[in-house]
Amino acid sequence: MRFTDKVAIVTGAGQGIGAHYARALAKEGAAVIIAELNPETGKRVADSITDAGGKALFAETDVSSESSTIAVAESACKAFGGIDLLVNNAAIFANMMRAPWMDVDLAYYKKFMDVNMNGILLMARAVHKTMAERGGGVILNQSSSAAWSAGGYYGLAKLGVNGLTIALAKELGAKNIRVNAIAPGPTDTEATQNNVPPDVLKMLLAQMPLSRIGDTQDIVNSALFLLSDDASWVTGQTWCVDGGQVLRP
Ligand SMILES: NC(=O)c1ccc[n+]([C@@H]2O[C@H](COP(=O)([O-])OP(=O)(O)OC[C@H]3O[C@@H](n4cnc5c(N)ncnc54)[C@H](O)[C@@H]3O)[C@@H](O)[C@H]2O)c1
Repeated sequence: MRFTDKVAIVTGAGQGIGAHYARALAKEGAAVIIAELNPETGKRVADSITDAGGKALFAETDVSSESSTIAVAESACKAFGGIDLLVNNAAIFANMMRAPWMDVDLAYYKKFMDVNMNGILLMARAVHKTMAERGGGVILNQSSSAAWSAGGYYGLAKLGVNGLTIALAKELGAKNIRVNAIAPGPTDTEATQNNVPPDVLKMLLAQMPLSRIGDTQDIVNSALFLLSDDASWVTGQTWCVDGGQVLRP
């Protein structure tokens, strides 16, 4: 029960890895705000947590809208008295449009970066004051092994996430707010099943030292460590949880 009396916002928690983060945090005692764009999936996850005896609230949220990020922070404070933990997991990933740099529709590209990269900044801006008032907090950003291995705008946004993780860690450290990122490799979610062609996945897995697809629990285990006091002197880091897909000296 590492998160008893803690209040956590998890963005994009309506499905996939985000839903697993939310359930795991609630299981260890946190009150969890499901900050999700899709009301149907978001409510379902919040209900599943409360039905299991946990504390959860659904807040319809678009992380690319400043007013929406401020509103979800206000809802969390009103319902649970403040915010201790922020997991910036939301991204356009399932059903993402792929296009070469020379052809990508500019409006789509800008929206993509607003959700997948700038949303992290907007959420951090919305929560940092209440975190500081409570003596500190933790922000965990969702990167990806694609930051190093994919050339498209998905990879660029995740490189931006890594950069923002360092920048925010520097700026917020004095307020005792730690900022880290987790960079999963290919993980078994509905989005991966729909998004990554089976032959591409097979090739990716064959090249990895631990040649298997990641389980959501693999990602959850590392995320909970980084969010917990066990990692109280860890900040500004991007941690690969990817079966060794990305190996950096
Ligand atoms: N699945 C993988 O293999 C993998 C690997 C590395 C990194 N990731 C990252 O992990 C995260 C979750 O991945 P997933 O497989 O669960 O993806 P997913 O597409 O299933 O989940 C993303 C969630 O974010 C929500 N969302 C989208 N736009 C939003 C917005 N503007 N505001 C709020 N919520 C929004 C979606 O509705 C969805 O519930 C993403 O950041 C993804 O880039 C995934």
